[in-house]
Amino acid sequence: MSPSPEDKPDSAQASKQRAARAALGFLHDGMILGVGTGSTVNALIELLATEGWAARLRGAVSSSDASTARLRAIGVPVLDLNEVTDLALYIDGADEATRARMLIKGGGAALTREKIVAAVAARFVCIVDHTKLVDTLGHFPLPVEVIPMARSYVARQLTQLGGQPRWRADVTTDNGNAILDVHGLSIGDPIAMEASINQITGVVTVGLFAARPADLLLVGRTGGVERI
Ligand code: A5P
Repeated sequence: MSPSPEDKPDSAQASKQRAARAALGFLHDGMILGVGTGSTVNALIELLATEGWAARLRGAVSSSDASTARLRAIGVPVLDLNEVTDLALYIDGADEATRARMLIKGGGAALTREKIVAAVAARFVCIVDHTKLVDTLGHFPLPVEVIPMARSYVARQLTQLGGQPRWRADVTTDNGNAILDVHGLSIGDPIAMEASINQITGVVTVGLFAARPADLLLVGRTGGVERI
């Protein structure tokens, strides 16, 4: 879906901040919060500090070393997910989102931990700016985390699925793995594509969040925040 006419191209950062602020409405005193990764989540973490939430949360589980460092810097205790059984809420951004709340994630290479935290969370609230909303996923190159020794094999298999994989050569994930970005896909059936790619030997995670989509999408726009 194209941005609405009122969404000016230079308003993406302000729209991210609007979506992040709207997510504060889902926080509760004493809760453990799942925190994602990326510039929209960074806006959320800043708001946790400036709006007094850093002291009101019991703690957070984090989807990346980068977010962990930011959370600790504002005084939020970061917990090991293995010690958390009930995670009521996960808030994260996305690279693309549909109105069915299916997502492409992993532009920041944190897709595997993001998918784990999303799986554990009772509710996944996704915060995006209006430029992320699309009719069909796949214009954004689909990130796939792979075991390093399987990189070339997985790339050949992804080519057979119709994509053009490119190795993100300057990136090693927090888990010590490689990222392939798959260009040229038009993902008509995200659930089937997610399952197909996950079955390739050597794939750790594909950045399609379709079998477990977001429960709520908060889309920051020039005029406010759309809830989907
Ligand atoms: C991190 O790996 C990604 O999944 C991010 O959630 C995604 O790239 C969104 O990032 P921005 O908020 O910076 O657009």
